[in-house]
Amino acid sequence: MKTVGLTYDLKTDYAFKKDDPPDANAEFDHPSTIDVIDSAIQSCGFKVKRIGNVSNLLEHIDHLDVDIVFNISEGIGGRNRESQVPVLLEMAGIPFVGADALTQGLTLDKIIAKKIFIAEGIPTPRFFEARNSAELINTNHFKFPLIVKPRFEGSSKGLSENSRVENKEQLLKQVEFLINTYKQPALIEEFILGEEFTVAIVGNDPPEVLPIVQIKIDGDLKLNEKFYTFARISSDRLEYVCPAPVASDLQETISALALKTYQAVECRDFGRIDFRVDNKQRPYVLEINPLPSLSTEDVFMMIAKVIGISYPEMIGRILNSAFKRYHLTQ
Ligand SMILES: Nc1ncnc2c1ncn2[C@@H]1O[C@H](COP(=O)(O)OP(=O)(O)O)[C@@H](O)[C@H]1O
Ligand SMILES: [Mg+2]
Repeated sequence: MKTVGLTYDLKTDYAFKKDDPPDANAEFDHPSTIDVIDSAIQSCGFKVKRIGNVSNLLEHIDHLDVDIVFNISEGIGGRNRESQVPVLLEMAGIPFVGADALTQGLTLDKIIAKKIFIAEGIPTPRFFEARNSAELINTNHFKFPLIVKPRFEGSSKGLSENSRVENKEQLLKQVEFLINTYKQPALIEEFILGEEFTVAIVGNDPPEVLPIVQIKIDGDLKLNEKFYTFARISSDRLEYVCPAPVASDLQETISALALKTYQAVECRDFGRIDFRVDNKQRPYVLEINPLPSLSTEDVFMMIAKVIGISYPEMIGRILNSAFKRYHLTQ
């Protein structure tokens, strides 16, 4: 029987530092998510060895005794944090599930990712970067509203109702807040009024695009100025609707763009792409997540239900994609 190692970060293990914002551990997983992934892997016929975070991995890397690692670790810090586990596993020659270090790094940094989207002809909102507020002098060629996001965070970290700005004064204030609180440059994008979608993909050669999911906030699908803030994630004001109730030509456009994005950044085994679509039905890719949440409350598991498979079967598909890629047999 093959053994699957599990690398992850737990919300409960995070030690808050003095200057940390309240959402500092937002990307980490609940212990219950690790439990369900663990039992899902077991029910696929494997032994599971829990490794834990990158420090534990580093300590035990020479005697791991696993055939492959299922990695959902977010890493310690900085824009390369999600690359830390993959690069160690690569060094040690241990196969692992999911995108490699390069893809994790370039997608966590939303500006680098957007540069790749642009080079590949993938539509993404117009943007600029501010490393300090002095850089905001010449913004006249951008149309308000704008949205101010941290350059390399996920899980809506740093996003609140103040993130959408309507004028220069609000922009300046939010950029200063963000840079001081999150200790990184601000990414400023044109705010796309309209609707929001997210698309999950599983596998390689060819990857399978799953039915698209639409985001509903406060009961509305036409979100316009509404968006996904950190506070909304844990509230019941946000719902996922799958399959998305949109015309089939828009579904096809979004699915094709999701696949193109997955391939552009060389994502592997699984991933999720976030979209806004404006009121003229023009889609924009916001970002791609090579480490999307596998929590039972999240998008992947909702899709599993829609396509008629169980949670363990969804985990099994992801795992099998990696097995095939490495020519491993079960
Ligand atoms: N340009 C934009 N226009 C409108 N809403 C946006 C834009 N960028 C981000 N958002 C909103 O903020 C949310 C989080 O942004 P995203 O870029 O996906 O970062 P992350 O999910 O990593 O925090 C999106 O799901 C969306 O609701
Ligand atoms: Mg997102």
